[in-house]
Amino acid sequence: MPSVYITNPIPEIGVNLLLKKGYKVEINKSSRDLTVEGLKKIVGDYDAVLSFLTNKIDAGVIDFASKHLKVIANFAVGFDNIDARAANARGIAVCNTPGVASESVAEHTFAMILALNKMITQQDRFVRDGKYKKWDPNLFLSHQVWGQTIGIIGLGRIGTFVGQIANGGFRMKILYFDIRRAEDFELLTDAQFAPVHKILKDSDIVSLHVPLTEQTKHLIGKEELRLMKNSAILINTARGPIVDEEALVWAIKKKEIAGAGLDVYEHEPEISKELLGMENVIFSPHTASATFETRNEMSRIAAQNIIDVLEGKEPFGLVKV
Ligand code: GLV
Repeated sequence: MPSVYITNPIPEIGVNLLLKKGYKVEINKSSRDLTVEGLKKIVGDYDAVLSFLTNKIDAGVIDFASKHLKVIANFAVGFDNIDARAANARGIAVCNTPGVASESVAEHTFAMILALNKMITQQDRFVRDGKYKKWDPNLFLSHQVWGQTIGIIGLGRIGTFVGQIANGGFRMKILYFDIRRAEDFELLTDAQFAPVHKILKDSDIVSLHVPLTEQTKHLIGKEELRLMKNSAILINTARGPIVDEEALVWAIKKKEIAGAGLDVYEHEPEISKELLGMENVIFSPHTASATFETRNEMSRIAAQNIIDVLEGKEPFGLVKV
């Protein structure tokens, strides 16, 4: 009977799928993430591991995999926490849950865009603090988002949804960059394909939607932030290390840009203290995909990926590197 280790509790839909197959399922119920030593033991003992993005499964951990381990199924769209090449080299499939988070993350991106533009957190605090004494036409004045230019860097599923909301909801002008042009998207949204430096220069909002790879690490550093308009904001709901956090602190302090909306951090869960002290930065704790709809689908697909690999079928979320 195949054995599956789940590194953190997940919605029951996925667990039930595995149990229905008669697999032996063990779930780590501790509130702490597994240590490297813990991960090494697990890859040595089980046929399948269902992992979280906080489990760093690098080549050093994969070295400890037993010959029984067939699949590591990440409960995430991103899979930068797993050395998929090292895993594949030992015949271990790596899987993710593609597509499930696109709507949620696109909505979260817009929640941040709107909250920053309309200073929602400051307004909320103002009212709670009893400072609302009288209507004032100059109170919390902001520019409308309608008609602004959004620059989308990375036009995968999430970037595409962000573009559709921007166009359909706010009639925004869209600039985008991806490794491929997307003519259908251009037709649908009037978006213009542009190099990254032009996007940075011309956008009021720059939103990042690329995966984290060696090429995208620190894609946004001092030089890039310097190119942005002083009035522009940066949104990162992708992966923290895509932005050089120290450079971001510098850019906001120097008023090179007007603010940022961050769901992810370079040294997650650590966040620069200076950043935390900034009024024009809005934070969320890596929750852009945190909707019931998405989490249930992640659970179902991660479990189904495991079942498919163990049954010798190609899983929906097979990572190809
Ligand atoms: C969340 O960040 C994910 O990759 O699913």
